[in-house]
Amino acid sequence: MSFKLNLSLLIVLFCTHNCIYLINGRSIISTDSIFKTPQINNNPIIGILAEELLYSLEDKYPDQYHSYIASSYVKFVEGGGARVVPVWIGKPREYYEDIMSKLNGILFPGGSLWFNQTNGYSEAGMHIYEIAEKMNDEGDYFPIWGTCLGFELLTYLSAKGEEHRVDCSSNSQSLPLIFKDGFHESRMFKNAPSHVIEILRTEPVTSNFHQFCVTEKNLTDFHIDKEWHVISVNDDWNGLEFISTIENYRYPFYGIQFHPEKNLYEWVRNKNISHTTNAVIASQYFAEFFVSEARKNDHHFADAKTEDLYVIYNYPETFTGAKGSSFEQCYMFPEDVDYVKTNNAHVQDDTNV
Ligand SMILES: *[C@@H]1O[C@H](CO)[C@@H](O)[C@H](O)[C@H]1NC(C)=O
Ligand SMILES: *[C@@H]1O[C@H](CO)[C@@H](O)[C@H](O)[C@H]1NC(C)=O
Ligand SMILES: *[C@@H]1O[C@H](CO)[C@@H](O)[C@H](O)[C@H]1NC(C)=O
Repeated sequence: MSFKLNLSLLIVLFCTHNCIYLINGRSIISTDSIFKTPQINNNPIIGILAEELLYSLEDKYPDQYHSYIASSYVKFVEGGGARVVPVWIGKPREYYEDIMSKLNGILFPGGSLWFNQTNGYSEAGMHIYEIAEKMNDEGDYFPIWGTCLGFELLTYLSAKGEEHRVDCSSNSQSLPLIFKDGFHESRMFKNAPSHVIEILRTEPVTSNFHQFCVTEKNLTDFHIDKEWHVISVNDDWNGLEFISTIENYRYPFYGIQFHPEKNLYEWVRNKNISHTTNAVIASQYFAEFFVSEARKNDHHFADAKTEDLYVIYNYPETFTGAKGSSFEQCYMFPEDVDYVKTNNAHVQDDTNV
């Protein structure tokens, strides 16, 4: 006891604050603040991969744009407590290496395109997937999240680019998840609040919009069933069972076939997107979970001014819903899009506003 007290007195002399807490008269040395920087990064910035412009958007906005990101994915990440940097398609591998060294995670959004298109989403996805594998192999925790087509991209890349999916019918389908045994041991759900699991298990809150499905047989046939933990399944309109939630056993890679960002941020009518309070609570869980994974590495831009050159706030959003798109808002980018070289953000101090 007296040794402990002496030690704490000694340390107190060298610490300005945060080194010792006195609780009930006993000294507790906070090793975190003395020996290492905190493990949790509370400045997470997540890259969202752009994709080839949808034909329907090209029809509505002809000859202007080459790629896009639906705003609902941006809001999803922001609602989980992170900022967003757009990640371009059609770039060399060095670009993805560089940008990922500054980002804390990548989201592959859903969409409608073929994986065989050159210089597009799937090629960029391949670079990102391989770079993230390497980072994680070297002990640098780097998560990837795939939603809908992004989920299919994860298994496609894991199957070394072989078409392993099956045609299915799951548009405007609102479903509860059918959890597999052992879902409680998954990283995605082991710390999930029980009311979130109850909502997902019992209420039709997951929004499905996909004409391809990945089945457990597909994982087995393509020899990737040892890589992916199947957490939940569902049945399409014709009763075909498909995988609705997976995570990689080795890497922090996560895939969901449904669209929580639609429950939160998309309002197209007659598409069976649940906007109940419980649908919002359950959807929000996925955003917070993914961002919590992204808090586990300390990749960062050089400083706040440099962050400002990359964040998505530099680009305009368009109210595409007004022209009948199923996305309320989108960021659409011309072919020569790049990050900005200078801006004056944060020059003026208006923090009292
Ligand atoms: C890509 O695959 C689709 C479906 O199999 C096919 O219709 C299309 O022609 C292919 N495109 C290219 C560029 O190979
Ligand atoms: C995927 O699995 C389904 C059945 O679960 C099967 O019908 C389909 O042919 C499989 N796809 C491929 C490419 O093997
Ligand atoms: C929404 O999806 C559920 C299936 O999960 C179905 O029972 C219901 O009829 C669908 N509603 C519409 C309007 O499509």
